[in-house]
Amino acid sequence: MKPLQFSFVHSGITKKQLTKEGKKLQKEIVAMKKAAQAKYKDDRASINLHNDRKSLQKVQALISSKLRLKPEYVVVIGIGGSNLGTIAVQEAVRGKLYDQKYNSKIKILYADTVDTDTLHAITTIIEPTLQEGNNVILNVVTKSGGTTETIANFQVLLTLLKKYKKKDYKNYVVVTSGRDSKLWKVAVQEKFSVLEIPEKVGGRYSVFSPVGLFPLGLIGVNITQLLKGAGDMKKACLNPVQKNPAAVSALIQYAHYKKGRNISDLFLFASDLESVGKWYRQLMGESIGKEKNRNGKRVWEGITPTVSVGSTDLHSMAQLYLGGPQDKITTFVHARHMNSNVTVPKLDTYEHLIENIQGKSLPDLMDAILQGVQIAFNKGKRPYIEIALPDKSEHSIAQFLQFKMMEIMYLGYLLNVNPFDQPNVEAYKTETKKILGSKT
Ligand code: PA5
Repeated sequence: MKPLQFSFVHSGITKKQLTKEGKKLQKEIVAMKKAAQAKYKDDRASINLHNDRKSLQKVQALISSKLRLKPEYVVVIGIGGSNLGTIAVQEAVRGKLYDQKYNSKIKILYADTVDTDTLHAITTIIEPTLQEGNNVILNVVTKSGGTTETIANFQVLLTLLKKYKKKDYKNYVVVTSGRDSKLWKVAVQEKFSVLEIPEKVGGRYSVFSPVGLFPLGLIGVNITQLLKGAGDMKKACLNPVQKNPAAVSALIQYAHYKKGRNISDLFLFASDLESVGKWYRQLMGESIGKEKNRNGKRVWEGITPTVSVGSTDLHSMAQLYLGGPQDKITTFVHARHMNSNVTVPKLDTYEHLIENIQGKSLPDLMDAILQGVQIAFNKGKRPYIEIALPDKSEHSIAQFLQFKMMEIMYLGYLLNVNPFDQPNVEAYKTETKKILGSKT
């Protein structure tokens, strides 16, 4: 099992500056260590999910029992923190073209927003399966149990399920929620299987809870390795500053933000990692974008997270990144070993089109592009962090996600904002509920 490799040499922040600024994080590292001993009592509780044997056993037992039903599909009904981590891990580990590649295994579908065409497409996919007497699992995931989109989509899909599984529909529903939510109570009444999201684990920090573990385990992702990766990275991110990648990365982001770089681009040089970027966008956006600081003072703090995929987005964004304003800090992420090694064949007729690519592997071409971009960034004095994943395995991806969650916790501390709440999100939810109440 290999660790992630970090390079901060082109971050634009010197070791001396880091040592000086690092003092600001010493207290928080002590608090983080304490939280690591406090199970689920602290706001930082998500760092302990990897240790929760009881929850893992419950998830594994439920996976085994649902696999006995031989389901063809699992539909994850959830939004934001309730599905972004699952999508990120599924695509990274299994590949975006999962359904095509693993077509003999269980297929996974996601119902998140209330897009009528998407939900209709999902029903069009699963209805024939149900009609033929085959099985579909509905995994509804919502910590609050009161998210409009999730509850609406769940009722549509549950009605479809009941049409074909009149007597035993209960066997095909798994509810993942907070123990105090209204949905939890309904689920218990209905005798659905239930999985608990610990009270102190917020949605965007919940990927290593049953939120991610159940659907991922069901489709064959190795969830034990996932938790191992989370635990290994947690250890590194409790170290003193200089040996703590999450603390160093947070300090770099903070220092640049204070100097006016208020955009943080996660540049992923692997197509299957795009959804890891989307997961991170929520994590940073919702955790750091705050109207008020911890003292209640209006500060309108926030770093805007963006996601780029290499080399795809070089053909759309490189001009801005290399010629535009100096307002970004970039984190390049790549995997040292991909799952395959396609080579450009030697075809005489085409040799002159682009020289020196025939006989080279695609990973070699990608490396050359990444190096080229980094040299251009150096020349343009554009700061960046570089992270090399050993591969796209469960262990590696989990390390990356844990690193990012702890980085955001440290960043929240540096900015004096609460990285665990989202008070302004409620504003639109309240208005939406008012509008729905006034419409029949
Ligand atoms: O991180 C968060 O807290 C949010 O993104 C939530 O995950 C999202 O709003 C969905 O909420 P819930 O899980 O309560 O349905």
